[in-house]
Amino acid sequence: MLEAMGSLAAALATALGPRTLLLGAVAFLFFADFLKRRRPKNYPPGPPRLPFVGNFFHLDFKRFHLSLQRFVKKYGNLFSLEFGDLPSVVVTGFPLIKEVLVHQDQNFVNRPITPIRRHGFKKNGLIMSNGQTWKEQRRFTLTTLRNFGLGRKSLEECIQNEAHFLIQAIGEENGQPFDPHFKINNAVSNVICSITFGERFEYQDSQFQELLRLLDEVTFLETSVWCQLYNLFPRIMTYLPGQHQTLFSKWEKLKVFVTHMIENHKRDWNPAEARDFIDAYLKEMEKHKGNATSSFQEENLISSTLDLFFAGTETTSTTLRWGLLYMALYPEIQEKVQAEIDRVLGQSQQPSTAARECMPYTNAVIHEVQRMGNILPLNVPREVAVDTTLGGYHLPKGTTVLTNLTALHRDPAEWATPDTFNPEHFLEDRQFKKREAFLPFSVGKRNCLGEQLARTELFLFFTSLVQKFTFRPPKNEKLSLNFRMSLTLSPVSHRLCAVPRA
Ligand code: HEM
Ligand SMILES: *[C@@H]1O[C@H](CO)[C@@H](O)[C@H](O)[C@H]1NC(C)=O
Ligand SMILES: *[C@@H]1O[C@H](CO)[C@@H](O)[C@H](O)[C@H]1NC(C)=O
Repeated sequence: MLEAMGSLAAALATALGPRTLLLGAVAFLFFADFLKRRRPKNYPPGPPRLPFVGNFFHLDFKRFHLSLQRFVKKYGNLFSLEFGDLPSVVVTGFPLIKEVLVHQDQNFVNRPITPIRRHGFKKNGLIMSNGQTWKEQRRFTLTTLRNFGLGRKSLEECIQNEAHFLIQAIGEENGQPFDPHFKINNAVSNVICSITFGERFEYQDSQFQELLRLLDEVTFLETSVWCQLYNLFPRIMTYLPGQHQTLFSKWEKLKVFVTHMIENHKRDWNPAEARDFIDAYLKEMEKHKGNATSSFQEENLISSTLDLFFAGTETTSTTLRWGLLYMALYPEIQEKVQAEIDRVLGQSQQPSTAARECMPYTNAVIHEVQRMGNILPLNVPREVAVDTTLGGYHLPKGTTVLTNLTALHRDPAEWATPDTFNPEHFLEDRQFKKREAFLPFSVGKRNCLGEQLARTELFLFFTSLVQKFTFRPPKNEKLSLNFRMSLTLSPVSHRLCAVPRA
């Protein structure tokens, strides 16, 4: 058969000449691409796609979440986009977003696994897994987090302790300008590290600082143009140098760190007494030993642990950094927070979740930091699990779904001053007021698994810091609200002064 085709091609080449043949081959590729891209009936409208690369050139990766407003205007609250081979839709507006995340959550429960992810982690872990693996990993993690003190006194004490260390470390700056990034990173990370690894790391620990830098770098690299190109042409890019290769080697280093931690745990493991997440997981693996279909295997242990480490560090510390930046930029709001702290806690009493009920203003400020910080502007992507109808359009299984949380958090119909920092958005008669259109943790079956932990951390860390320090811009330096785009939106590198209050 192959031979026959070979001689046919040879005969054609002699008859038509190589140039015609090449043209024919290119035309065929375009035609095949066109057929592959034909949209099913009633698919959401969107900008025209180019062959092979889809809407790649429509996208501005430096401010991706803001670059598509014109398409909403033109095509409406549900429009389609194509990232190379990945058909995607963007969902705007509260009713439609709620339809995706809550009312039809079963149909949108999956995550798209991009080629770059698959290369690094297959379909393992918590954040980027689907089906049985996801169900088992999520259920186990939720139970285990609860067993290790989520919602209990012990975890609150752990965070209070860490806040104490952070205050000490920031106090050592003596009110001089400093970049708070990695101290905050370290403090926040120590909370999830206590749960997963059973230990915290000193802020001077250079190995751990290196690890935090790795974490920061992979967050940034994964959204680089190189990695988008890898997602378009994985088979070619595998052989080319570039930032995608850097990402792979950094992921590998993170995996080595976690693997090392797991080996240490195995050495002195006592099944009768689980010290932390890894111990509990080893026990679960033992329970499922010999069952090849179970997802409780070593590679999921590594991925799920790394997922917790990553999700538990990056998001919360980025939010806190936004918080301190807003305080330095809005001194009169910071003063009001401090007045409330002084009234409810004074200088000596440590902040606790119990006190949160009596601190509506501080609570409102933290919510407003999350609204304006908007660190996951398009949520974490979902994928259509079974053919679905949304807003009257047909979405075939496998379509990527982005829900535009930015539009929700800046909707002029929902917020009095959508683009200005204003804690009154979460207050009514001086009482804290919940807002429906506020979804930084998303909602539904696949929402943020660490929401409760994150909310506790944000309140305790933020309140502890503002209790002890007044945050100010350094003399003659102008602070900006510009962001850096990576997997999260974070403030650009900056310095602050933390002036002791006592
Ligand atoms: C301010 C802090 C945080 C924010 C804004 C945040 C936000 C989010 C969002 C928007 C999602 C996607 C939910 C969806 O697809 O509907 C998510 C998922 C997730 N978050 Fe968080 N998160 C934060 C902190 C944390 C912490 C501290 C942990 C640690 C336990 C954590 C663990 C996770 C995990 C494991 C997932 C994946 C859940 C799944 O796919 O089933 N997050 N987070
Ligand atoms: C999301 O909404 C914001 C605010 O309306 C808009 O500027 C941005 O372009 C939208 N992004 C996408 C991907 O639709
Ligand atoms: C093996 O694991 C799968 C998936 O967790 C489970 O459905 C099945 O019941 C297990 N089999 C045994 C014999 O435990």
